[in-house]
Amino acid sequence: MDIQGKVALITGASRGIGRAIALELAQQGIKRLILVARDRQKLVEVANEIEAMGTETAIVALDLTQTIEVNIAVAQLWRNYGQIHLLVNCAGVAYQSSFLQSKLPQVQEELSVNLLGMYNLTSLIARRMASQRQGTIVNVSSLMGKVAAPTMATYSATKFAILGFTQALRQELAEHNIRVIALLPSLTDTDMVRDLKLFRWVIPMTTQEVAKAFVAGMQRDAPEILVGWQSHLAVLCQRLAPWLLELILRIATPPAPRKQQPSEKLGFLAKIQRFGDLLLSRKTQCQVKSL
Ligand SMILES: NC(=O)c1ccc[n+]([C@@H]2O[C@H](COP(=O)([O-])OP(=O)(O)OC[C@H]3O[C@@H](n4cnc5c(N)ncnc54)[C@H](OP(=O)(O)O)[C@@H]3O)[C@@H](O)[C@H]2O)c1
Repeated sequence: MDIQGKVALITGASRGIGRAIALELAQQGIKRLILVARDRQKLVEVANEIEAMGTETAIVALDLTQTIEVNIAVAQLWRNYGQIHLLVNCAGVAYQSSFLQSKLPQVQEELSVNLLGMYNLTSLIARRMASQRQGTIVNVSSLMGKVAAPTMATYSATKFAILGFTQALRQELAEHNIRVIALLPSLTDTDMVRDLKLFRWVIPMTTQEVAKAFVAGMQRDAPEILVGWQSHLAVLCQRLAPWLLELILRIATPPAPRKQQPSEKLGFLAKIQRFGDLLLSRKTQCQVKSL
């Protein structure tokens, strides 16, 4: 997709991956960016950065779970700014919990933002794109939309659903000349993961790396953009030896918060986890010494 002279709407643009995608598109010379999230102040800060790069901006501070507000905002945007060529559905929330301790309100929020919010905005904009016979929609899923992991069952469920939604729309909207793509970042250093217990041995990516992979994927017309070598390796392993990936994920899963009794013996998985942690800490110490 050639983004020169184009208008993009990005949700989740106030921080994290959405913000980095907005900055990268501005860097690539897009004409206008419409930035959507709830926090107006943060959106203003991102807009100021982008305008300094020569790209026009518009800010829409709203909660994507409020369908009526979203309907009104999209109608106003179309009236004020005309056609939207690129929609990036990036807003999302994630909660980590052992399934047996999961809480319904958090699951409802994941479903409302990650799925229903995406559905509502996409349906409003896709109808207009169809009437213009032009458009690109990018839905941000996750590596966890391909490879589910313990403690993230409900988040993974929303990200798997986004991939199904994207695949179906890709076929259905092709006749209207609308491309539909999925972006699948792996662990990325953002506010979202700050309170999560991270999976062992997974190296977080930067938001800039994700944004660059996003632009490169769009340029080569990829229907699904996997980000980083760890994602490629995980998906390959799932295809060739799914049992091995499940074992690795069980070992890599962060421990549930509970005290170990002095007399308690370590199980087989716990021993492997300890061994892996030890190896990794040795490697890190060596790297630090060699600096
Ligand atoms: N970080 C990772 O490791 C990772 C990995 C794979 C995929 N992803 C996906 O990448 C996307 C961005 O995640 P991130 O890591 O950048 O998270 P983040 O830093 O927490 O940012 C989340 C964004 O979503 C917006 N948002 C949340 N709830 C909203 C609502 N109800 N209405 C409107 N906007 C809302 C937030 O803005 P306000 O708070 O201002 O509303 C913020 O801009 C998500 O879809 C996430 O699932 C992240």
